[in-house]
Amino acid sequence: MDIVASIKDLRRSLRGQSLNLRTGLVPTMGALHEGHLSLIAAAKQQASRVAATIFINPTQFAPGEDLDSYPRPLEADLEALEQAGCDVVFVPENTTMYPAGEVTRVRVPGPLSETLEGEHRPQFFEGVTTVVTKLLASAQADVAVFGEKDFQQLQVIRRMTADLLLGTEIVGAPTIRSADGLALSSRNAYLSPEERVKAPALHAALEQARNAIAQGEIPTVATDQAVDAIRQAGFGRVDYLAYRAASDLSAPTAALPAGQGRILAAAWLGQTRLIDNISA
Ligand code: PAF
Repeated sequence: MDIVASIKDLRRSLRGQSLNLRTGLVPTMGALHEGHLSLIAAAKQQASRVAATIFINPTQFAPGEDLDSYPRPLEADLEALEQAGCDVVFVPENTTMYPAGEVTRVRVPGPLSETLEGEHRPQFFEGVTTVVTKLLASAQADVAVFGEKDFQQLQVIRRMTADLLLGTEIVGAPTIRSADGLALSSRNAYLSPEERVKAPALHAALEQARNAIAQGEIPTVATDQAVDAIRQAGFGRVDYLAYRAASDLSAPTAALPAGQGRILAAAWLGQTRLIDNISA
């Protein structure tokens, strides 16, 4: 496995001598878990040479968020990527991704990035789309894989990649969950043992809402009931729990055919903000 820090070395390592190689990219912020490794596995199915990136992107964190405390187990991450059969790991410095004097930002305007997560973390998607544009441009990969765990992020990146003609195919990979239903996330490490026991209630509530909608319940009634369920389970503030069209995250006036909807949620358990979503 090559470990590289410059864009030139990344391109050289990915392409090798052959321009015909299909290359894959898995952008991450490190603190890797089985969910990330499933993205590597998905990329390996799509490409003959796969790079992961580890970069904790400062522009997607607001002041007061967990940029400084975000876990950074680099040695363990490199070991896990090697075991997963990753070919290249790109671990750039901040100054590589944001060179002196840089001012350019990439923004996907409109409801896709300004609702739900975008309403509660207004800086988030601009930071993500800016850094993902840089990563895709740097790697010039044929395919990039992102987790459906961050479903809105995936849809925003799809829109941006299509709009900017970046030429990288964006593939979404299913959310990996613990046996009790909790979606794997690097931020689960922040949960206390007591909170960890309560955390699967978020996924259970999403399933409850999906089942109710499938049985004919009005979507807003079903999502209100799900909010009640997670509050009763011990969650505090619920930033959103909403039924949306999967394609563009618009709010449908009535239930869509099964599979065309998505129920997305973000809610706080103590000091930890958890997000999750399911197809509906
Ligand atoms: O999902 C993440 O880990 C990050 O938002 C990403 C896509 C690597 C951009 O920093």
